[in-house]
Amino acid sequence: MTKGLFVSIEGIEGAGKSTLIEHLKKHAQFQSDTLFTREPGGTPIAEAIRKILVSREHSDMEAMTELLLVYASRQEHIRKVIEPELSAGKIVISDRFYDASYAYQAGGRHLDVDILAKLDDWVVQKTTPRLTILIKAPIQLCLDRVYSRGNQDRFDDESSPFFMAVQSMYTQRADRDPDRFLIVDGTQSPDEILDICVSKILSLRKL
Ligand code: TMP
Repeated sequence: MTKGLFVSIEGIEGAGKSTLIEHLKKHAQFQSDTLFTREPGGTPIAEAIRKILVSREHSDMEAMTELLLVYASRQEHIRKVIEPELSAGKIVISDRFYDASYAYQAGGRHLDVDILAKLDDWVVQKTTPRLTILIKAPIQLCLDRVYSRGNQDRFDDESSPFFMAVQSMYTQRADRDPDRFLIVDGTQSPDEILDICVSKILSLRKL
């Protein structure tokens, strides 16, 4: 049904996701026919929801509210951006997608995965990534990177047990779906990480 290639990039704060995406955006292979987007976000409504989600003013947000806001933003993003761009044959590279909900809201916040699976039936439907790049690095290294650039939002303020639970859920999902996931060692240099990811994306683009 979809002609393009859907790629998501995941990892906890400080794993190296933003650096990889910055480098992919500058890479010659992705100057045309590629859309870079992000979650939560990617449309005006979804970006407005993102502001609510990450704001420190909302430190008392219910976990279920967080989940429903994420899926409301995802509905906008998928229907208005991801599906049309894939139908037009583009490579869509999203900074986070639904695995982040399993990692943060189920892993980190302990919500029931069955609720997420039901939401996926309604919202994600068949629009799942062909490739998910999971950048993994030791939690303390990631947190040191976050603290050195300065905590920026409500999620950055979480403690190391929270991020351990998030990373562990990411790993469980990757282990269960090795055909979709590429796990990348986030302790490698940015150039090494870039090379591995570019080769993988281009190999799938040719299929
Ligand atoms: P970012 O800092 O990677 O841009 O993402 C913003 C935050 O949103 C990040 O800390 C994780 C969180 N998030 C969730 O909790 N659930 C989700 O489904 C998504 C996509 C992001």
